[in-house]
Amino acid sequence: MNWTVRLTVNGEPRTLALDDPRVTLLDLLRERLHLTGTKKGCDRGQCGACTVLVDGRRINSCLTLAASLDGAEITTIEGVADGDHLHPVQEAFIAHDALQCGFCTPGQIMSAIGLINEGQAGDDAERIREGMSGNLCRCSAYVGIVEAVQNAQQTLASKKTERAA
Ligand code: FES
Ligand code: FES
Repeated sequence: MNWTVRLTVNGEPRTLALDDPRVTLLDLLRERLHLTGTKKGCDRGQCGACTVLVDGRRINSCLTLAASLDGAEITTIEGVADGDHLHPVQEAFIAHDALQCGFCTPGQIMSAIGLINEGQAGDDAERIREGMSGNLCRCSAYVGIVEAVQNAQQTLASKKTERAA
């Protein structure tokens, strides 16, 4: 039997035949589409390294069956920059030294983009810590991560205000 799933991945429509209905979105991205920026940390929903956006909302791709996402729009770390221009969250992570080994960073950035889009980040560091609590960092770069999210949120808010003016 053959299972087919239609997805838009980083703006590109894809039709993918699955040979196993149990394949996760994470394995589909990494092994079939070679989008290896999304990391496999625990493979059981505990670390957040595999975070991507599905229809704008952040999810753990290791816990999500690809077959359940027919018609969905997926954004991975490879799809957030605008050509040579990094996304403001990527820029903020660099500016605030919010990474060391970098393994958790794609998941942290996707989670931060989702959090900011949800309007949940606020200006309060404690709220950001809570909102990012599903993303673990073995290098403990948390201080920089929270600062980066705060800063990116301010940048994105002022861009929005400029556009509205
Ligand atoms: S790899 Fe998905 S939560 Fe850890
Ligand atoms: S930067 Fe190394 S795990 Fe987070």
